[in-house]
Amino acid sequence: MNYDLNKPDPAKKPSIWRAMKKMWPLLVEEKKIIILALLAVIVNSVLNLSAPRLIAHAVDTFIVGHDYHGVLVYSGIILIIYLFGLLTSYTQIRLMGGVGQRVLYRLRNQIFNKLQSLPIAFFNQNRAGDLISRINNDTDKINQFFSQSLVQFFGNIFLMAGAAIFLLSLNIRLGAATLAPAVLLLFITLTLSPWVKRKNLASARSLGGMSSEIQESLNNFKVIIAFNRRDYFKKRFQGVNNENYSAAVGAGIANNTFTPIYGLASNLGQLIVLAYGIALISSGQFTIGLLIGFLSYANNFYNPLRQLAALWSSFQTALASWDRVHEILVMENNLPIIASSAVGNNGSVLEFKNVDFKYPDSKDVLRSVSFNLQKGKTYALVGPTGGGKTTTASLMARLYDPTTGEVLLDGRDIRSYSPEERARKIGFILQEPVMFTGTVRENILYGNERLAAYGDEQLEGVIRKAGLEKVLERFDQGLATKLTASGDAVSLGQKQLIAFMRAVLRDPELLILDEATANIDTVTEQLLEDILRNLPPSTTKVIIAHRLNTIQNADEIFFVNSGEVVRAGSMDHAMEMLLHDNRKS
Ligand SMILES: Nc1ncnc2c1ncn2[C@@H]1O[C@H](COP(=O)(O)OP(=O)(O)O)[C@@H](O)[C@H]1O
Ligand SMILES: [Mg+2]
Repeated sequence: MNYDLNKPDPAKKPSIWRAMKKMWPLLVEEKKIIILALLAVIVNSVLNLSAPRLIAHAVDTFIVGHDYHGVLVYSGIILIIYLFGLLTSYTQIRLMGGVGQRVLYRLRNQIFNKLQSLPIAFFNQNRAGDLISRINNDTDKINQFFSQSLVQFFGNIFLMAGAAIFLLSLNIRLGAATLAPAVLLLFITLTLSPWVKRKNLASARSLGGMSSEIQESLNNFKVIIAFNRRDYFKKRFQGVNNENYSAAVGAGIANNTFTPIYGLASNLGQLIVLAYGIALISSGQFTIGLLIGFLSYANNFYNPLRQLAALWSSFQTALASWDRVHEILVMENNLPIIASSAVGNNGSVLEFKNVDFKYPDSKDVLRSVSFNLQKGKTYALVGPTGGGKTTTASLMARLYDPTTGEVLLDGRDIRSYSPEERARKIGFILQEPVMFTGTVRENILYGNERLAAYGDEQLEGVIRKAGLEKVLERFDQGLATKLTASGDAVSLGQKQLIAFMRAVLRDPELLILDEATANIDTVTEQLLEDILRNLPPSTTKVIIAHRLNTIQNADEIFFVNSGEVVRAGSMDHAMEMLLHDNRKS
């Protein structure tokens, strides 16, 4: 599966109608409220449409007949109609405002949950900043459309349709002439829409790009300062900021092209009414009252049309944003849980069977690799940097699936385990320890259901029993030591200690350490090795390390390079392979 959002699958390009259909589920729960809001809008339109008819009647009977009492009564009625109009339009705004916010809330939840369900490959290929922008900015554009535009959109169309009917029924020829500019307008709008949407998509994309740039420089600020690259990043930021500026200006121009054109059409319509209407009056086919009413209906037709111009842009913006949100929502995890295929357990905890693996757009990292790990033994993976050790370990924990071949955990295809089962069986200490804002305690217990409810004293007891109390002493305030965002308050070595405690306390069947002690002093490392040795005898350990004594203590050494994972036999042979390999390259 292609996870690169910047290279969308052309076959899956969402059309307007398909996008609208996909948007529908967001609205289903709001159906009642939307119907209520639409009713308010319809009542509002009917009220607005009845006023000109009453005015025309008042002019032709009361004013022409000098009946001022009648004029007063009619004015009163028209005032009440306008007041009701105000009430209905306020109701509509309130109802739809709520709908917009709830859609926003649900949509953000949906995207966030989707992101949580996606595999590592997705995050390898997309920049966090762009994803954040999709969650924050794009969903808000959709919210604006729902809260401000959707019902007005229908309201205006309804108002226009009503006005058009009145215009045509009052005088069909004059009516048709008045509406002619609108038909031209419809044609222009439909022609320009794809361009407007494209401009809005470019604008949303560049906003995502800017967000990525900010995120990257914030993540790497230490390197930026250490290497004095501030100017370079400033320049890069200026670049994306400029790009965003022009894209936003482009979208602004596109969104506003409609407004003057619609204004012109509206003026043309009124001009036609006046010129043609006066000609009709002078030939005795029309009355002044009707002309006033007619002008009013022309206004009732063209004013909403002018508003539609703005609404149409808002619709195009929302569609562009919806594309970006939808791209995430249709992503599927390419690591599905398959039906269990019970294979005879030959005593091995983990087995690779003809495993091939490559990252998207990379060369093969593993080629037809087969080996198996026996319960309770300790294995060392050695090999040159970039040789594929981390990749092999990642496949053991199913961070990725093999391109072809199988990985068996306890004799069963690893793909048939639920994520919970798998996480319970496997403890993985990543090469780059990941910390969360919070205390050492919270970081140690991350994802550990068994110990989560333990009090501090109880937990310290467990830690002592596992032999980890000396490790905990490396932290000033023990379990209560605070880690700031991204764990800057502790050293890299300390982070590795936390990751170590986190994995060991889960009591996994298979413990994988990926250069987990690379930043730890020799004495503490010795301590960790003792702790590993004292784990239950059934625990299988896979250790990726460079220090000789660590490798030496393993039951078996695997050499990982050039797509192969092979048994090295002895320590000496492994070193020979490593030296030979280094000389070769
Ligand atoms: N996320 C990734 N995307 C593409 N290629 C990768 C990725 N991670 C590692 N690689 C490539 O896979 C190869 C093996 O990397 P890795 O398993 O991390 O090596 P080691 O842990 O032995 O140093 C390297 O050539 C590296 O460039
Ligand atoms: Mg590595």
